[in-house]
Amino acid sequence: MGSDRPVLIPVILGTTRKGRMSAPAARLITDEINKRAGLRGELIDIAELGLRTDDVGAAVQNPELSDTLKRADALVIVAPEYNHGYPGPLKQVLDSYLKEYIHKPVGLAGVSAGSFGGTRVIQNLLPVMREVGLVTIFWDVNFSKVQDVFDDDGKLLDEAYVKRIDKFLNELVWMARTLRYGRENIPLD
Ligand SMILES: Cc1cc2nc3c(=O)[nH]c(=O)nc-3n(C[C@H](O)[C@H](O)[C@H](O)COP(=O)(O)O)c2cc1C
Repeated sequence: MGSDRPVLIPVILGTTRKGRMSAPAARLITDEINKRAGLRGELIDIAELGLRTDDVGAAVQNPELSDTLKRADALVIVAPEYNHGYPGPLKQVLDSYLKEYIHKPVGLAGVSAGSFGGTRVIQNLLPVMREVGLVTIFWDVNFSKVQDVFDDDGKLLDEAYVKRIDKFLNELVWMARTLRYGRENIPLD
């Protein structure tokens, strides 16, 4: 079904904070994507985008990111929980693109120091996903007490996450292939 080109899944590391524990989480998911034949994961570190805060929308788009998002078949957003919400710089990225997102699936990974694994940031992201045209899947990854999940060098300490990410990717890839088929073959009107 559909074209044979690899399924491109950018993984957005959704914080610019120094010492962020979301970084090893985003790297792990990207590595798991790249272990699979037919998939290509690409880590997008929003700290490297030179985000502007004097405007929002098309005027402050990063052309390379726009191109990557256009080519993407699905997205993963790795979002740390900050006061039960999402980081401002992540929202700036989400707000600055639109047509790039439409009719593409998104998988959400929440990261928190507490036990809830970013469930509250995920809940708060859901209406934003809908508004920008992304299609959420019904499986998340929750990195609870993330300081115990990776060591200081970013090495995974809890192998159970590999299985959880596997299940999450199964669903995301199914949606990516299905929606790619739809975008390429089914007219909207
Ligand atoms: C401003 C701020 C607010 C935070 N609020 C929460 C919170 O509401 N719940 C929680 O479990 N952890 C909270 N944390 C801890 C983060 O979840 C923790 O730093 C975790 O490692 C993920 O964020 P990081 O990628 O920036 O490290 C907060 C951290 C910061 C910097």
